[in-house]
Amino acid sequence: MHTVLNHPLLEHRLSLMRDIATPPKLFRELVNEITVFLAYEALGDIKMREIAIETPVAKTVGRRVDEPRIILVPILRAGMGMLDAMLHVLPYAKVGVLGMQRDETTAEPIPYYAKVPPAKNGEELAIVIDPMLATGGSASDAVAQLKKLGYKRIKFLNIISAPEGIAKFEKDHPDVGVFTAAKDERLNSHYYIVPGLGDAGDRIFGTL
Ligand code: PRP
Ligand code: URA
Repeated sequence: MHTVLNHPLLEHRLSLMRDIATPPKLFRELVNEITVFLAYEALGDIKMREIAIETPVAKTVGRRVDEPRIILVPILRAGMGMLDAMLHVLPYAKVGVLGMQRDETTAEPIPYYAKVPPAKNGEELAIVIDPMLATGGSASDAVAQLKKLGYKRIKFLNIISAPEGIAKFEKDHPDVGVFTAAKDERLNSHYYIVPGLGDAGDRIFGTL
């Protein structure tokens, strides 16, 4: 399932992110803000439990998050840009890291680092974060690695998706929910998203 969020406050921020004149500091702030919106939408079905509480006025029953093991999995590099916002929303989450580099000519993902603890019982919720879903190779490979480690409940949050990436990801992982802030037109001949925002890692880290 691929959910494209549609909201004026998101569109406003996306337009600023896409602008080539937007400097890294503002770009990072926008990534943070958009990630909070994505988390809000993606986490609407997490497990909750009822608890008894007492307000200054009356006794009542409240609900609290009941997800003892959430693991955030940024795909290096650009996924790191979304991590602070996710930890802000889920302060007790654990963090695993997957390093993935696209081959410059073929856009095939080349995994170069993995530091993710194996799942203990399949009840864990793994949330993969990466701003860009272009060919879909990196995200699909990341989710395949998590499945091998025993994760069964997986979501993927990203900021801009290409139709080609959505199609590949849905074919490879129909069981994983994807939440994205924008579905763009297409990929260009260098496998960049059009209109996109360029290289997300370079824009976050100022390495243009
Ligand atoms: C970017 C992006 C994704 C990937 C998406 O990473 O952050 O991981 O490309 O492309 P795909 O859907 O075609 O796989 P990149 O390989 O440029 O590395 P970086 O984050 O280190 O810049
Ligand atoms: N990775 C990026 O950072 N941008 C694209 O447009 C495609 C892949």
